Amino acid sequence: MPFSLCIERKNFGFRERERNQNKRNCKKERKKETRTDESHKTYYFLFSVFFTHKSHLIGFSFSFLLHSFFLMAKSGVLETIPCAVTKATELKKELEKLVKAILDEEDYRVEATDEAMRVLSVLKELKFKKSLKMVDDTVVPEEFKCPISREIMGDPVVLATGQTYDLPFIQRWLNEGHRTCPQTQQVLSHTILTPNHLVREMISQWCKERGIELPKPVKDGDDEVRTDADRGHLKSLLEKMSSSLSDQKEAAKELRLLTKRMPSFRALFSDSTDAIPKLLNPLSPGRANTHPDLQEDLITTVLNLSIHDNNKRLAAENPLVIPLLVESVKSGTIETRSNAAAAIFSLSALDSNKLIIGKSGALKPLIDLLEEGHPLAMKDAASAIFNLCLVLENKGRAVREGAVRVILKKIMDCIFVDELLAILAMLASHQKALEEMGELGAVHCLLGIIRESSSERNKENCVAILHTICLNDYSKWRDIREEENANGTLSRLAESGTSRAKRKANSILERLNRAASLTHTA
Ligand SMILES: *[C@@H]1O[C@H](CO)[C@@H](O)[C@H](O)[C@H]1NC(C)=O
Ligand SMILES: *[C@@H]1O[C@H](CO)[C@@H](O)[C@H](O)[C@H]1NC(C)=O
Repeated sequence: MPFSLCIERKNFGFRERERNQNKRNCKKERKKETRTDESHKTYYFLFSVFFTHKSHLIGFSFSFLLHSFFLMAKSGVLETIPCAVTKATELKKELEKLVKAILDEEDYRVEATDEAMRVLSVLKELKFKKSLKMVDDTVVPEEFKCPISREIMGDPVVLATGQTYDLPFIQRWLNEGHRTCPQTQQVLSHTILTPNHLVREMISQWCKERGIELPKPVKDGDDEVRTDADRGHLKSLLEKMSSSLSDQKEAAKELRLLTKRMPSFRALFSDSTDAIPKLLNPLSPGRANTHPDLQEDLITTVLNLSIHDNNKRLAAENPLVIPLLVESVKSGTIETRSNAAAAIFSLSALDSNKLIIGKSGALKPLIDLLEEGHPLAMKDAASAIFNLCLVLENKGRAVREGAVRVILKKIMDCIFVDELLAILAMLASHQKALEEMGELGAVHCLLGIIRESSSERNKENCVAILHTICLNDYSKWRDIREEENANGTLSRLAESGTSRAKRKANSILERLNRAASLTHTA
């Protein structure tokens, strides 16, 4: 059973309880109903008060009003308060006038006080009606409820089989890959959803008559509702991608905006396998930056697409996408390059994608981008490298492509220290990376950070790296001991660091002491 359906089943249970509760409340409800009946008189009174005022002005006769009142009563419009909510403001104005008259005039009319009291009682009734948002489930007509959610529908649509559902729920059902009607089990000839205007109008009328707020179309988390209009719009934009250059540019700009602003638009791309290839059609491999502005818009669109979970696998497994992203990390505007890196970061959330991306030679250009040090691009490049190196294969690749040298140099220059230390700590489990760190003077640098940094996380990463270097290469112990003797750097960390930092620092200190006692006894 799909996960979301499980949740819905649970909700059914909840509704069941609610319904029982409702039954228990039934008596109370009936009382309320009779009270509503009685209050018709009040409405009638007010109705006549209001309209006789106006009727004097526009010459309406009272009998006309009476007549319309009975018509309305017969048609059931007056069963509850017509346009009750919008009338509240008018009532308040009326009340204000009445109260002002009572307060200001010495010789006010007695009727004014009665009228004021009646206005007040209607206001009270309105308030009560308004707060009565919870509708007794049993009185909602069956045809107004969505067969999936069992709730009154905010956005009724018709499925190919002619059954009506609430859009977000049937959309989710379809998104989960089902191709049958949940009710009839019939296989669907198509998955187009058509708005059911009639049912929507009936629901809206029914709600208005009862002074109930019309249910708002439910938003379904990030997997937001995709409409046929959007689908059609996307189709026409993608068609422009094989049209003239100016069409391509214009459509790319719009797609960039739409995928940035509308999660539902991102989701649309996951509905078909050829949407992404069509999008990238204008970028020919090897010459992706022929039109840098077009490239920027398209790569940025890919970035925003890749945020949507369902697109991650689809994009990475398409043979076009990763090579184009890798190429765009190498060349294009700085925004293109950093957005391509960000897209790689986003796609690398899946382990299977990490391998695909690693194999496609993405690490070298990412490391180069980091080394260039453009402030816009460094963070994206570093995040992508970090994510990719979470799998062992890519760690080796990154080390071979010179990641350690580039990262250590940046750290020594005090650039982007937090992020880069995290990557370095991860690479430290790789033998060749450790050797390189030793050769490049990492020990001094790391000790310096432990001594001077105020970031506990950075100190922890440093001592963790030092610990591995220590285990790997005894020749580095002398430097560490000198530092410890001169500044007590590790003992301080062993006392005040994070628990992991303490553990690592203590472990290094123990080794130093053991080695020292060995040399003493020797
Ligand atoms: C989509 O791309 C834009 C760049 O045009 C970026 O600024 C924005 O953060 C992206 N959207 C999300 C949700 O990350
Ligand atoms: C000890 O700390 C000082 C700065 O406070 C630093 O210059 C020196 O290199 C550190 N280590 C040694 C072994 O002196």
